[in-house]
Amino acid sequence: MKKIAVLTSGGDAPGMNAAIRSVVRTAIYHGVKIYGVKRGYCGLIEDDLSEMNLGSVSDIIHRGGTILGTARCKEFYDEAGRRQAYETMRKHRIEGLIAIGGDGTFAGALKFDALGIPVIAVPGTIDNDIALTDRTIGFDTAVDTILDAINKIRDTATSHGRIFVIEVMGRHSGVLALTAGLAGGAESILIPEMPLDIGQVVANIKRGLSRGKKHSIILIAEGVGGSQEITKQIEQMTQLETRLTILGYLQRGGTPTGEDRNLASRMGAVAVEMLLAGERAKMTASAGDIINGIPIAEALAQKKEINYEDYQLAGILSR
Ligand code: F6P
Repeated sequence: MKKIAVLTSGGDAPGMNAAIRSVVRTAIYHGVKIYGVKRGYCGLIEDDLSEMNLGSVSDIIHRGGTILGTARCKEFYDEAGRRQAYETMRKHRIEGLIAIGGDGTFAGALKFDALGIPVIAVPGTIDNDIALTDRTIGFDTAVDTILDAINKIRDTATSHGRIFVIEVMGRHSGVLALTAGLAGGAESILIPEMPLDIGQVVANIKRGLSRGKKHSIILIAEGVGGSQEITKQIEQMTQLETRLTILGYLQRGGTPTGEDRNLASRMGAVAVEMLLAGERAKMTASAGDIINGIPIAEALAQKKEINYEDYQLAGILSR
């Protein structure tokens, strides 16, 4: 392979820039030309790409977002859009693609690879909802962002003696909420993987208050749905002031943690090496500090499990 391309697609995640940097510099190290595609698969369809050099990725390792831009590209869902993207690759004689993103990006990568150009996917999403990899790029930073918010809200919760419900991202997954909830000492963690039991949430609050706790933090994953109604229900059942904070897009930006930067650096380099070794339709997957190549299809065929032991532990430790 003499020429490859890299793009970021779907929701941005802190550490994507560190991954782009790693892909670009690893490719150049191996004597391969590297092209950066703008706005995910849309840039491929629209022929919006340019060659990158060592300097193109200077001063980005610590920046959130993605210098290439990103999109959830509707046109790429259609065969015609993917064909157009394929033509762009052929026109520039680009022989391989590295796609950094979440499950939507992975599904697109698999379909694009089937057209004939090898694709390696790199998991980049704050949700950490991709099976067969311990971590996705951006997750660790998002957990820290949520913890920072919990710490601040805890001050107000304690000062006012209020209950706070905090909604965090994660689309259909509770991994982010559970990890931040365990680390943040939340009294209850509501996630789509577990049945919703408001009675238990209220019992947890009352048990805490009766032993002198001055606040209650309930973390809810967006995938549960109905945060406002749940907040109202808790207020009615406890007769205590209850407030909802939706953290939203705060969780997607910011300076990536050291862990995310290193994960991105490792995965970016391995993705290039996999392409050069003739691998395709695979994702980079972390198992501790080791990065493996795993078929994208296998990861997409499974739902990532939550850590049930962590869920139990969070309940025990927040008493
Ligand atoms: O997948 C990342 C994520 O931030 C989810 O947690 C959230 O549900 C979704 O993206 C939001 O998507 P959008 O940026 O398109 O609003």
